[in-house]
Amino acid sequence: MFPEVRVLIDEHRIAARVRAMGEEIARDLAAAAGPDGRVMLIPVMTGSIIFVADLIRCMPVRLHLGVVTVSSYAGAATESAGAALRGQIPPGLAGTHVLVIDDILDSGQTLALVQSLIAEQRPASLRTCVLLRKARTRRADPPVDFVGFDIGGEFVVGYGLDHDGLYRNLPWIGVPVPAVAQGRGGGPP
Ligand code: IMP
Ligand code: MG
Repeated sequence: MFPEVRVLIDEHRIAARVRAMGEEIARDLAAAAGPDGRVMLIPVMTGSIIFVADLIRCMPVRLHLGVVTVSSYAGAATESAGAALRGQIPPGLAGTHVLVIDDILDSGQTLALVQSLIAEQRPASLRTCVLLRKARTRRADPPVDFVGFDIGGEFVVGYGLDHDGLYRNLPWIGVPVPAVAQGRGGGPP
């Protein structure tokens, strides 16, 4: 279906890792919040949409969900143009145990922005989880508590991650292959 994308992490590895992460994070949050604490998960849209859908179904804890939208990559660019909040951070986080969820830690600017805005509301605790962490020099170094996979510096797509709006529906994570993509009338650089 997508010959122009080489598989990097297949569905089975993703599923096993997401399940293990969900169980670990749930244990950690349950211990921090206790029986009466309020837990709120805040996924960063749109890239984390598939990850969060799978992750929360492996988390047997009482939790609330509220999204934030941050844009960083304009169109087909593959380098961050800086992070900008679109819309609002969910309100009423004072005293709440918050977990921020993103698809990938790249330059670090997205998570640094989201963490600082959430911290202004004085949550009881603030944790961060990413599915992927890229090996690169970061412009910002936000603390990250849970990491699914460490990868190289390559641009990746699939399982929620896009290139110019495409490939989010791939059930696995892959790397666009430029030669094949160009032969198909354009695509990733
Ligand atoms: P950062 O602010 O540079 O850390 O960028 C984080 C955001 O950029 C992520 O939430 C993704 O949406 C996007 N991003 C970074 N690297 C990639 C990639 O390799 N493929 C697709 N999206 C990416
Ligand atoms: Mg994103």
